Amino acid sequence: MGMIGLLEVFVALLFFLEFKCSFLHKKSHGQPILKNWPFLGMLPGMLAHIPRIFDFSVEVLEATNLTFSFKGPWLSGTDMLFTADPKNIHHILSLNFRNYPKGPEAKKIFDALGDGILSADMELWEDLRKSNHVIFHHPDFLNLSLSSNIIKLKEGLVPFLDNAAHEKIVIDLQDVFKRFMFDTSSILMTGDDPMSLSIEMPEVVFDEAVETGEEAIYYRYFKPVILWRLQSWLGTGLEGKMQTYLAAFNRRFAKIISSRREEISRGESKQSVDVLTYYMNVDTTKYKLLKPGNDTFIRDVVFSLLLAGRDTTSSALTWFFWLLSKHPEVMTKIQHEINTKYDPTDLEKLVYLHAALSETMRLYPPLPFNHKSPAKPDVLPSGHKVEANSKILICIYALGRMRSIWGEDALDFKPERWISDSGDLRHEPSYKFMAFNAGPRACLGKHLALLQMKIVAVEIIQKYDFEVTKGHEIEPVPSVILRIKHGLNVTVTKKT
Ligand code: HEM
Repeated sequence: MGMIGLLEVFVALLFFLEFKCSFLHKKSHGQPILKNWPFLGMLPGMLAHIPRIFDFSVEVLEATNLTFSFKGPWLSGTDMLFTADPKNIHHILSLNFRNYPKGPEAKKIFDALGDGILSADMELWEDLRKSNHVIFHHPDFLNLSLSSNIIKLKEGLVPFLDNAAHEKIVIDLQDVFKRFMFDTSSILMTGDDPMSLSIEMPEVVFDEAVETGEEAIYYRYFKPVILWRLQSWLGTGLEGKMQTYLAAFNRRFAKIISSRREEISRGESKQSVDVLTYYMNVDTTKYKLLKPGNDTFIRDVVFSLLLAGRDTTSSALTWFFWLLSKHPEVMTKIQHEINTKYDPTDLEKLVYLHAALSETMRLYPPLPFNHKSPAKPDVLPSGHKVEANSKILICIYALGRMRSIWGEDALDFKPERWISDSGDLRHEPSYKFMAFNAGPRACLGKHLALLQMKIVAVEIIQKYDFEVTKGHEIEPVPSVILRIKHGLNVTVTKKT
């Protein structure tokens, strides 16, 4: 048995011990807190909860007044401070932004993202942010976004759902949304339409690469660094799978980049407004750290943006439709609003729909946590000391479910909480409702994402009824994106 085998047996043993003994010791008022063991730290108690980390983080943070210091095994590099305290969040993401980059550890854990905006820090991040801002606000880019949505609805989503209704087949709505978002995001980011949403449901290499990567990255937080590095080097486990899929994706992407370079050299791509063409021609006198001639750099930039758009929006749409299936009264109100107020040129009028989407992302934020690392030691408003380069995980999932923040009905799905007495949308500060992040690194695609979700939601709600397959299990995958483990299986019928 090799080194990896031994380590995996060790981890399995810990799982067994966790099962046999109660490593959770109870606080006097009955709330579970992890016991800190010599050498092993809190890992034994944590292991059983790693697959259900999101709900576990709610229990632990509620019991520890919103901030909890996790100790991993000695020298494993897995110590972390978990927080869902709005005061800490405001301090980290806004007031002391400069002292809280993602940091070198995040760069290692998210190494697949390379120099893309999601993992960049400091001056490189500033150049990426400013240049992104320019393209995201360019009128041609916004038009391309709108037209790609409309085309994909007409030529992708509607024929697909019509066929599913006609054939009475069970479909996975999560997969459908991922494909819809992959096609529209690819058009925006690369100018290329992979046509993944069609009745034939072709295999999507990107999907396998990304989902394996997102799960592998999640487990890196709890594995000793030496273990995942070794697995990655040997090509075993999730790490090995991630490498294989990413290599396949990179090969495909290299082709897109080289053919775009050829088009540019023939003068054929001058009018393109997609992100790939933009970054290949980006002005390096303004953005000194960007490298338009470097294929790896261009891949990193575009890959991050594809991820930022596809996985988040498709996750939000999936949880939204699942919540609607559980809350017919909310569906009825949305339908009524669409019937009475829908104007395709002004989706802002759909206040209740917007509230229901916000409420979905409060309970099911597509990015369930955010990694930060202090550049210099600091003391958080909660009184916790943080060392330079230590890991802080802001638990966005737990933040949305804290009774001390949202009230006793925090776990209930109530779009009404987003609507003021005058019938307008109620604003919540971003360090309380953090689905789109807060401070200078707030999501650049928020407006685009909300628009897209409304367009898709209206189209489906107007034209179709759907029913979730009875007995279908709904639980989140332990991953850096909040996806449903076995998808969202539904049958669709066309409205008459
Ligand atoms: C429901 C949909 C979306 C949600 C919930 C969401 C949420 C977030 C969050 C939480 C972050 C912070 C990530 C971090 O710092 O690790 C972020 C960053 C970002 N998002 Fe979104 N996002 C969504 C859709 C989009 C879309 C459609 C785009 C672009 C087409 C986009 C572009 C970006 C970019 C560029 C950043 C990086 C900002 C920076 O680091 O300065 N997002 N988003």
